[in-house]
Amino acid sequence: MPGEPFNAEPPRSALISSYVTPVDFFYKRSHGPIPILDNIDRYCVSISGLIEKPKDIYMTDIWKLPKYNVTATLQCAGNRRTAMSKTRTVKGVGWDVSAIGNAVWGGAKLADVLELIDIHNCTSSTPLGGKHVEFVSVDKCKEENGGPYKASIPLSQASNPEADVLLAYEMNGEPLNRDHGYPLRVIVPGVIGARSVKWLDFINIIAEECQGFFMQKDYKMFPPSVDWDNIDWSTRRPQMDFPVQCAICSLEDVDVVKPGKITIKGYAASGGGRGIERVDVSIDGGKTWVEASRYQKAIIPYIADHASSDKWAWVLFEAKADISQSTEIVAKAVRHSCIFFLISYHPIAEQVDTAANVQPENVGVIWNLRGILNTSWHRVHVRVGHSNM
Ligand code: MTE
Repeated sequence: MPGEPFNAEPPRSALISSYVTPVDFFYKRSHGPIPILDNIDRYCVSISGLIEKPKDIYMTDIWKLPKYNVTATLQCAGNRRTAMSKTRTVKGVGWDVSAIGNAVWGGAKLADVLELIDIHNCTSSTPLGGKHVEFVSVDKCKEENGGPYKASIPLSQASNPEADVLLAYEMNGEPLNRDHGYPLRVIVPGVIGARSVKWLDFINIIAEECQGFFMQKDYKMFPPSVDWDNIDWSTRRPQMDFPVQCAICSLEDVDVVKPGKITIKGYAASGGGRGIERVDVSIDGGKTWVEASRYQKAIIPYIADHASSDKWAWVLFEAKADISQSTEIVAKAVRHSCIFFLISYHPIAEQVDTAANVQPENVGVIWNLRGILNTSWHRVHVRVGHSNM
């Protein structure tokens, strides 16, 4: 669907065709017209704010820094919104289960970039009181009244090399394309996609978190009792880590399958650098379950807390089952209890995380007016009949 803003997701079956999502099958989410930034020699990111020495950083400076390839799943907080809106209307782009993708992002660590302005690793506050790192983009959007898209993360996360926050210039070994933020974007692994600002223009070191629309008036999780008449945005913190999620991608609700063996395939992902412990699949609407086999990298068997696992990446799963009658197939994932990397900067987010350790059974209990974080058990109705599948 071309136009402004440009939003697109692939068919769900495309997601399970490979562990690393090809760029053409990677969802695209933008809030304004996509900027054209062709003059790479003049392109620079200005870093200023609560620091002693503001600095302009050019692409040549970024390319000189050590390059890291981080395999990370990016997920829009609105993934699976369409299913949530079936319970009660919600506001937002209607996504099926494919506003998510897994890419190898290549670029410089933000922690190394911050070293260039004398902010050392694992700093939580600058001498001038900077505690957050704000990313300001080139693109302009109506939600910001024509101003730039922006978001922030805590300085403690930005300056921690273990958090793998990147200023990325490559996606799957190729220069970023325009849709995904050429020439430079932020990648904040394990955190909702909204904080991974594309087309980076400025970095500001600020005292409080970014006051932009998408941090303060959007992408916050409210309980089902809050509606547009009684909402008070200031009562919630901006959503950061995404909770455990999973979806079946080999089947659609409309599918008619032959009686006999079926293959149930999909993805499971967990934010905050936490692995997936288990994926359970049911072919009787959730009465009985079998454990799916899963893998994160082809060939390497998946062990949730093993160093060979990509800690920021999704897990693909597969289960085979025999079905004889029309039924509801369900998948749910359980997050690993071990935390590879714990961001302990605000306790409220931690409580939400703990609650989201296991996926909720029904979407109604997590319904929220913006339709974000639909992490309920994923259900697909299949009809047994005589087809050519
Ligand atoms: N950055 C800018 N500058 N403008 C945007 O509209 N959208 C955000 C984020 N970064 C956005 C942005 C949202 S909501 C998501 S989910 C991701 O980008 C989507 O990244 P992608 O289009 O590369 O998949």
